[in-house]
Amino acid sequence: RRGLLAGGAVAAAAAACAPVSAVPDAAGHASTGQTPLPGGTAVEPFHGVHQAGVATSPQTFAVFAGFDLRPGSDRTALARLMRLLTDDARRLTRGEPALADTDAELALLPARLTVTFGFGAGLFEAAGSRHLAPRLLPAFKVDALQPRWSGGDLLVQVCADDRVTLAHALRVLVRDIRSFASVRWTQHGFRQSPQVRAPGTTQRNLMGQLDGTVNPGPGSADFDRAVWVRDGWLRGGTTLVLRRIRMDLEKWDAADRAAKEFSVGRRLNTGAPLTGRAETDEPDFAALGPSGLPVISEYAHIRRARVADPGMRILRRAYNYEDGLSPEGRPDAGLLFASYQADVARQFVPIQQRLAEVDLLNQWITPIGSAVFAIPPGCAPDGWIGETLLS
Ligand code: HEM
Repeated sequence: RRGLLAGGAVAAAAAACAPVSAVPDAAGHASTGQTPLPGGTAVEPFHGVHQAGVATSPQTFAVFAGFDLRPGSDRTALARLMRLLTDDARRLTRGEPALADTDAELALLPARLTVTFGFGAGLFEAAGSRHLAPRLLPAFKVDALQPRWSGGDLLVQVCADDRVTLAHALRVLVRDIRSFASVRWTQHGFRQSPQVRAPGTTQRNLMGQLDGTVNPGPGSADFDRAVWVRDGWLRGGTTLVLRRIRMDLEKWDAADRAAKEFSVGRRLNTGAPLTGRAETDEPDFAALGPSGLPVISEYAHIRRARVADPGMRILRRAYNYEDGLSPEGRPDAGLLFASYQADVARQFVPIQQRLAEVDLLNQWITPIGSAVFAIPPGCAPDGWIGETLLS
């Protein structure tokens, strides 16, 4: 395994293979001697038909890391890399240290850790399979994209309910990626945690809206049709469109509640459509107000984003981001809008095109980053992620 690393790194890795300083338990495994809580030991299965981290009930923390392949990372090298990363991910998600893990104790509380890999256009090029690459998105007129948040040949998405677990997993994975690729961007996100909002309920984004109400439900036939690819090398996989969307929260603060609710077509407190009482009520797009105008505006976000066929919806698994304050005290905040769908061109693009044309929400939001990845299928215990493309 370590034959992959450059000379100096081999010595360092060999030294790191020495027994970890953690206290071994009866079975000889590393242990901290502390009593963990159920949230810490909770495991999301790594192996299966699909990669974890898509249908998985969203964990509290996420990091999306985009990498650029180094010249010479050909198909054989990529297969080696993906074998290594699969091995890391399978161990870490079980709560076991990766091979040569220098901080083994940090691996012991998986906290529902998932590691999800994605392949961008450049990886297909490097593998000699350009014809299979996901198509790039068209330019949308709302876009103000910055190269520092866009593109990338390889994606690593790490999610966990614990930020320390997440940091350690990312560090382990990046250590193995470094000789094959350089980091292009890292984007950290967070959601309301299971301590404050029960799993399966809708989270609030930083504009205060309940965000994620109308979404395919995992386990349903509509979800399977909307999200998973049904044939070819990507069978059992999906695609990810990751958009970094900045929110102008100062401007949002200046809007009154009625204008905020009108822009989306839902109430801020309950998330109910303006024509209903409960979050799950169907919006009545035909309902007219006293002035004869539609209660849910023609330009409201939910009307513009609506997809009639539930099997053609996108899966929104968004995370908030907040990257500190400007000297004037303005938050650099927004949404890491992660959209999973079987077919980018047929599902994501038409929605984004409609929203780019007209959406009242556009007054406060601006896409500043964009990337598209194929998310390969999952693998069996003796397999590796990417084998259907690279072996
Ligand atoms: C619905 C907020 C960007 C697609 C919603 C809802 C909110 C919301 C509050 C209503 C509740 C729900 O069903 O989740 C936002 C914010 C965004 C954003 C704050 C950016 C910062 C986008 C983008 C897309 C999108 C970029 C797709 C390209 C949808 C869809 C729905 C939705 C498909 C469900 C519509 C329906 O009722 O059928 N969004 N959204 N949103 N949004 Fe967004």
